Amino acid sequence: MHRSYQSFWPGNLLNIPAIQKTPPWLIIVIVVFAVGCAFGIWQAAEIARLKPKGADIRPLWYLNVIGASTTITVSILAMVFVLKEIRDKMKMLETWNEELEDKVEASVEALLQSEEKLKRSRLITIYSLAAACEARDTDTGDHIHRIRFYCEALARKMGLSEDLVQELSHFSTLHDIGKVHIPDRILLKPGKLTDEEWEIMKTHTVKGERILAGGEEFRTGMQIARWHHENWDGSGYPDGLKGEYIPISARIVKLADVLDALLMSRCYRPIPFTLEQAAETVVAMKGKELDPDVVEAFEHLFQQNAFKKIREDLPLLLKGIPLADILSPDEG
Ligand SMILES: [Fe+2]
Ligand SMILES: [Fe+2]
Repeated sequence: MHRSYQSFWPGNLLNIPAIQKTPPWLIIVIVVFAVGCAFGIWQAAEIARLKPKGADIRPLWYLNVIGASTTITVSILAMVFVLKEIRDKMKMLETWNEELEDKVEASVEALLQSEEKLKRSRLITIYSLAAACEARDTDTGDHIHRIRFYCEALARKMGLSEDLVQELSHFSTLHDIGKVHIPDRILLKPGKLTDEEWEIMKTHTVKGERILAGGEEFRTGMQIARWHHENWDGSGYPDGLKGEYIPISARIVKLADVLDALLMSRCYRPIPFTLEQAAETVVAMKGKELDPDVVEAFEHLFQQNAFKKIREDLPLLLKGIPLADILSPDEG
């Protein structure tokens, strides 16, 4: 074919690299009847045959009968046509957007529901394990539940995020899960343990961490199980961690566990401490066994009778009444 015709040849036009790379969504074929009618119709047919994938071919038929300037008339018509097409496409996009928004909303809702289900199953797992531990432990009488609510009150008082407050209060119930591996002759021994027995007893921390080492979701539980017997001054076990090297969750559970142990009878202390005596002992441990900040939170809560209320209203808390409703808003 002659060179001067090549640019009009539809095959060449559609072979331009830019058109090949990003196919146009609309091609307007202007067919001028008055001039080159047959050529125009052939061009339109050829472009329709070779149309790039995804492009929309719209022929614009124009019959120049009034003798107006072909260039101006065709330009105006093409502009009107293009504007109409753009408006139609915008409307279509709006509809797509709305449909997409609805789909995204439905997916988010489904995701939230499955997340909620997952959270519930995790809680069921935690409390089933806690109930199993409680059945074998000597610290019976709702010890783990009191610990849970002491921890919730302390963690909230210390200004921890609500997620962490919930996380650590639920996992606090598993602090002694490792005791399932301690033989009965040691765990249930009424008298004082020998040095050797005591060393075995201390392993409930690392054994507890191992039981919970199932995944990231149980990380707080693992920290609590392993480090709830560490002391702020570094004299605790199993690792002798000191100060803020001990995770905050374990420091809070440590205080809650000490407090509740003081309020229970022991073979070496048949009459349990009163709340006042226990509070004095806890405050005396500030900066030694216990984190000073956790003790400060404890002192505030103690002055507001929070621990007394938790102990008295435990049945209500176990029925699902929120802790904030039991304590005054200031204490919650
Ligand atoms: Fe323990
Ligand atoms: Fe305990």
